[in-house]
Amino acid sequence: MEVKNLRVNGQRLKFTLEMMAKIGATAGGGVHRLALSDEDKQARGLFLEWLKEIDLVVTVDEMGNIFGKRDGKRPNLPTVLTGSHIDSQPQGGRFDGILGVMGALEVLRTIHENHIETERPVMIVNWTNEEGTRFPPAMVGSGVWAGKLDRDWVYDQADIQGKKLGGELERIGYKGQQPARKWPVHAYYELHIEQGPILEKEGKRVGVPKGILGLNWYDVYIEGKANQVGPTPMEGRNDALCTAAEMILKVNELPMRMGGNMVATVGEIHNFPNSRNIIPGRVHFTVDIRSWDDDLCLRAWEELKKDFGRISEKWGCPVKLVETWRIEHAPFDEKLVKRVGETAKYLGFSTHFMVSGAGHDASYVNQVAPTAMIFVPSIGGRSHVEVENTKGEDCEAGANVLLHCVLQSALER
Ligand code: GLV
Ligand code: MN
Ligand code: MN
Repeated sequence: MEVKNLRVNGQRLKFTLEMMAKIGATAGGGVHRLALSDEDKQARGLFLEWLKEIDLVVTVDEMGNIFGKRDGKRPNLPTVLTGSHIDSQPQGGRFDGILGVMGALEVLRTIHENHIETERPVMIVNWTNEEGTRFPPAMVGSGVWAGKLDRDWVYDQADIQGKKLGGELERIGYKGQQPARKWPVHAYYELHIEQGPILEKEGKRVGVPKGILGLNWYDVYIEGKANQVGPTPMEGRNDALCTAAEMILKVNELPMRMGGNMVATVGEIHNFPNSRNIIPGRVHFTVDIRSWDDDLCLRAWEELKKDFGRISEKWGCPVKLVETWRIEHAPFDEKLVKRVGETAKYLGFSTHFMVSGAGHDASYVNQVAPTAMIFVPSIGGRSHVEVENTKGEDCEAGANVLLHCVLQSALER
């Protein structure tokens, strides 16, 4: 079969996604497959079986990143890499991340069964802990691999129960031997659901992101004074939760104040001791600020710090601010972005150029290798929730774009 006529097997991709969706399946139709949990382990096990079925050479590095390699005619040339992540959000969806891994698997299955000889090696990857929801920050597998995050610092990050990432990696048996260190990559492609409403609104099939917004994560710790709610008068209380409430609204107002072009969110909050008849004595919440404009994010945080200082004083609740993590906006490789658009058009799909508001491993990979992504529509623009959904034919379309982008890069001499 001529290479240009190759197509992935959409039914097989659908079935593969369904098999994965069973691991950590939730009653509401989503998945709960947190990084380095038993569910993550189980899904990794199945993934490894599938990699071996098509004779890929499998390696697991010290971050638990899983790679499967298929050699090319010239094995010393820089590789073409494609993949995404298997971990999910709590009560998350069946497509975020996993589509990019199973789509890449479908691409490699197609190349394998058609005995295509590429010039360059082609590699599939599952990056560890993309979500950063259990172990902040996000994208640590690709971050360490790219040399942008320190391995031991990442190992030391703890979940809410105090379990360390390094320990959990060992527990599930995925702390590999190979150093998590980048090697020359000729092109990196990541297929992903859009996770927003634009493609559906525009009536377009394939999204072509020019890059990813910069992400800025902060942690806020407020110290109040816990007391009995009944006998304690309203005046003079040091209520940590009321302090947090005022601060959270300031976060929500921030993009408007900074002139748009930004999103800002408090998504996680812990109130202690969390009893209806105790004045909250301690609160921890997170702040997530994103924009294409990295400086705007930094200026926004400076404004927020001033607000937080005023609010903390007003309530007599000291506040500690931690600058947890930042990744600058990622402008993708122009040649590869163009290739994604042209390949989609060649395959007969309508396209839309856009920017990714969601974070992806492609951000870190982009810092060390030419990178591009392929987006397919999210029904109702919903993601990170159990109802997250993408039509089977759209997953197939995205995988076909991925197939032909990978092939073009892998056939380059
Ligand atoms: C990752 O899913 C993110 O956008 O936070
Ligand atoms: Mn994702
Ligand atoms: Mn996600």
